[in-house]
Amino acid sequence: MRIAIASDHAGFEQKQALVDYLAQDLGCDVMDFGPDTDDRVDYPDYAEKVAHAVASGDADRGVLVCGTGIGMALAADKVPGVRASSITRPDFADLFRRHNDGNVVCLSGRFIEPEVNREIVKVFLETEFEGGRHAERVGKVMRLDA
Ligand code: RB5
Repeated sequence: MRIAIASDHAGFEQKQALVDYLAQDLGCDVMDFGPDTDDRVDYPDYAEKVAHAVASGDADRGVLVCGTGIGMALAADKVPGVRASSITRPDFADLFRRHNDGNVVCLSGRFIEPEVNREIVKVFLETEFEGGRHAERVGKVMRLDA
């Protein structure tokens, strides 16, 4: 699976660790959109890169990390075709996939421990969308993109 990932300065340290986790432990093809240092940057610039990679089909899923995950989710979800949310619990990651067909998970680098974020990412990547009645609802959500 091809995964696009990026962060801002507040998510940089956890993003670096997740790049290794995704490649080495989960066997993903990782597209790291930066940054390369923890210098201060603006989260929308990095959300945009990952969101476009997912929306274009270059990446199968996206992972974004900022201080809370909230700013990244707000920005990424503006890009048509992207379903992004801030996720702070593995069970929410499960429902985000099964019910919402989420394709970009946004994590908190400041308030959530690395082992919890690793589990969130694992669940996010390994859980299938249920379809059925949820497909109709997601279709209604996606029509709001227009
Ligand atoms: C940066 O200080 C912080 O605002 C950012 O990482 C993020 O949490 C925004 O939602």
